[in-house]
Amino acid sequence: MGKVEMWKGVDQLKTPQQPRELQLSDWFKPRRRPHVKTVTDWFAPIVWEGTYHKSVLEDYYEKKNITVGLVVFALGRYLDNYLEKFLSSAEKYFMAGHKSIFYIMVDNSSKLLWIEVTPLHTFKVFGVQGRERWQDLSMMRMKIIGEHIVSHIQHEVDFLFCMDVDQVFENYFGVETLGESVAQLHAWFYKKSASDFNYERQPASTAFIPFNMGDFYYHAAIFGGTPLQVLKLTQACDKGMLQDKTNGIEAVWREESHLNKYFFLNKPTKILSPEYCWDNSLKDYSDIKAVKISWQNRLHDLI
Ligand code: GAL
Repeated sequence: MGKVEMWKGVDQLKTPQQPRELQLSDWFKPRRRPHVKTVTDWFAPIVWEGTYHKSVLEDYYEKKNITVGLVVFALGRYLDNYLEKFLSSAEKYFMAGHKSIFYIMVDNSSKLLWIEVTPLHTFKVFGVQGRERWQDLSMMRMKIIGEHIVSHIQHEVDFLFCMDVDQVFENYFGVETLGESVAQLHAWFYKKSASDFNYERQPASTAFIPFNMGDFYYHAAIFGGTPLQVLKLTQACDKGMLQDKTNGIEAVWREESHLNKYFFLNKPTKILSPEYCWDNSLKDYSDIKAVKISWQNRLHDLI
C-alpha cells in the first residue's frame, strides 16, 4: 500500500468522530411559527418551541461530546427559598442526556442541600461573600463569573449559561439553546416597541441607549454562549458598572441595563423566545407553546 492510500485510511477512520458543521437550515424551521418573529434583522435565529429539529441537534451534539456549564448564585434567603427547586428541576430538564457542570455560588455552604444527581451532572460549589443590597449582589455577579471563566470554566465546558436562581425548569431546556452568544427575550417586553423598553436612559451612563434605538429588551435572568463570549460580556458589563460608579450613577436595572447595552453593540448569535423564561402571572399565553422555565415570585427584599 502506498503512502497516500495509508493517509486516506486514517482520515476515513476519523470521520465518524468529526460531525459536519451544522448549518442553520439543518435544524431551524422558522416557518413553523408564522405568528411570531423568528429571525432578527441580522439573521440570528429566535428559537421558539416548534422551530427546531430536535433529533438533528441531539445527534450532532452527542457526537461532539459536549459539556455545558450552568452558573447560579444563591445567597442569603435566595439559598433558602429557591436553590433546591432550581437545582432539582435543572437536574431533570437542563441539557438532559449531555454532560453538564453546575457552578453553584453560595455564601453559606453549611446550608447546602442533598440533591440526587445523575452521572452526567457534576456539582461544584464555591463560596462568595454576601452583600447587603441585592442591587450590589446582582452587579458583582458579572465580575465573579468572569473570574471563574478565566481560572477554570474555560477549560471545563464548551458552552456556558448563567441563570437567576428564582426560577424553575418546567420543560426540556436542551441543545437547541446553544450558540456563540445567547440572549433571552424578556417576557414583559417581547411585544413592545423599542421606545417602551426599560433601557437605561441617562446619557451619562455607559449603559445608555437612546429612545428610538435598540433591537429587543433582553432579560439578564438567562444569558450564555461559549466561555469566551460570556467572558467578553461579563467584562464589558463589569467595566461599564465600575465607570458608572465612579460617576455616581447606577443604571436603572443594574447589570441587566449593561447587558442590554452590550447586546445592542454586540448582537447575539441566538435569541431564546420568552417561552424559555416565562412569567406565569402574564395573562396572554397566545404565543407560548411550552414554558421551559418560569419565574418564581421575586423576593428582592429578602436577602
Ligand atoms: C422585571 C424583572 C426584573 C427586570 C425588570 C425590567 O419584571 O423582575 O428583573 O428584568 O423586569 O423591567
